[in-house]
Amino acid sequence: MHKFLNKIKKFEQKPFVIKNFINMDEVKLFNKLFQKLPIEINNKRQKILKKKWSSNYEPDLQKIYLEKLNLILENFSMDNPKTKDGYDSLGLFQESFSPVSLHVDSGFDFNKIIYKQTLLPLSEEGETVIFKNRFYGCSTTFSIDPVELSAKGYNKRSSEHLNLFGGKDFDKNMHKKYLNHEDINNLKGLEIDLIYKWNLGDLLVFDRTTLHCSSSNLKSKKLGLTSLMVKL
Ligand SMILES: [Fe+2]
Repeated sequence: MHKFLNKIKKFEQKPFVIKNFINMDEVKLFNKLFQKLPIEINNKRQKILKKKWSSNYEPDLQKIYLEKLNLILENFSMDNPKTKDGYDSLGLFQESFSPVSLHVDSGFDFNKIIYKQTLLPLSEEGETVIFKNRFYGCSTTFSIDPVELSAKGYNKRSSEHLNLFGGKDFDKNMHKKYLNHEDINNLKGLEIDLIYKWNLGDLLVFDRTTLHCSSSNLKSKKLGLTSLMVKL
């Protein structure tokens, strides 16, 4: 259990979107940076390519990014896993060709005050679903599929969410429209808070304790940068 659970809860808010967080020239700079970075993970099963923003790449853009984040969030530090080479990371670029399934990015350190995570869309296409439901364990992918549950990865795999939120059947229409890639029985007890349609220049900010996933509306691919933060 988290040591600072009360503090974590105290800083919780509804998800929000900052319009014009970056301009279109900066969107291009982030895209160029993504092209330059070495591949961290190429997961063929999940059809996702991950690259970490290693702190030895693009110091000028790092300064811009951190200054802008400091305008909207107070007293935080980055909490992204280090690169393979041991460098600090400013975030994770994720290029996905299929929708990311239900999970939480709470990390694995119960001595930290986990705070916000941000998503910077870098492609026109993309949609993210944030639920009202929260989870106070470690980073976990939630599934009822035996294949997924036995898969190995960074996140823990579990179906323990089904015992936490009351088990009410999920809305059939919303499932069909936005969450077709999930088994509707994996969504029991969940309630949607925000369906965020990606828009270049925006920044989506939400709590690290909230369950979320991609929407099923993904025709070709999407690219975004996500950063994880802890409260100082
Ligand atoms: Fe996530």
